[in-house]
Amino acid sequence: MSKVKTKVVSFPVPICIASSIIEGKVNFATYGCFGLLAPRPIPYVYIGSVEPHYTNIGIKENGYFGINIPSVDQIKETDYVGLVSGHNTDKSNVFKTFFGKVDKAPLIEDCPINMLCKLIKTVDLPGRDIFIGEVIETYVNQECITDGKLDFKKINPLLFTSANAKYWELGNIIGSAYKEGKTMIQP
Ligand SMILES: Cc1cc2nc3c(=O)[nH]c(=O)nc-3n(C[C@H](O)[C@H](O)[C@H](O)COP(=O)(O)O)c2cc1C
Repeated sequence: MSKVKTKVVSFPVPICIASSIIEGKVNFATYGCFGLLAPRPIPYVYIGSVEPHYTNIGIKENGYFGINIPSVDQIKETDYVGLVSGHNTDKSNVFKTFFGKVDKAPLIEDCPINMLCKLIKTVDLPGRDIFIGEVIETYVNQECITDGKLDFKKINPLLFTSANAKYWELGNIIGSAYKEGKTMIQP
């Protein structure tokens, strides 16, 4: 096998929209640098946000932010809120919102999954704030549940690869985790 060195580390990830309130105004911004840090016992997520973003002001001001997972249907709006800044464009009407149990960060009605996050730590990396949030509530659209479980085909999350700046959709299930490797375990 021959290998070449590459500069860019980029994998398909679900894109997310962070929602926040800045000086009383709702704002949205798109994030590919988003992920789950730990699912349990306490769920933590992070976003990596370039320092001048308007969103950063709101997260620091309120100590809360929303993470919304758009479906492929919201591709246009998702891209738009990642193209223009709340510093000079009012994005508050792009999505309809609702509040969970805390009214310090709105959540996006149209997005099939919403997480209300409490800021627990900000890691200061060069040029970027890494906001770590404890997920205190998660909502899913009723129609995206099949037999009591999340149905990812129905959620149809919008995926993103930064290296070539493309959006993707989910493929097919090809196996079951924690099962496929079992036949290799020596008795
Ligand atoms: C597909 C996509 C992915 C993006 N990912 C990030 C990201 O991970 N981190 C970041 O700081 N900005 C990211 N951006 C840029 C911000 O969304 C954009 O600068 C936005 O205008 C910031 O809005 P605000 O100033 O209102 O907070 C991304 C934009 C797009 C379109």
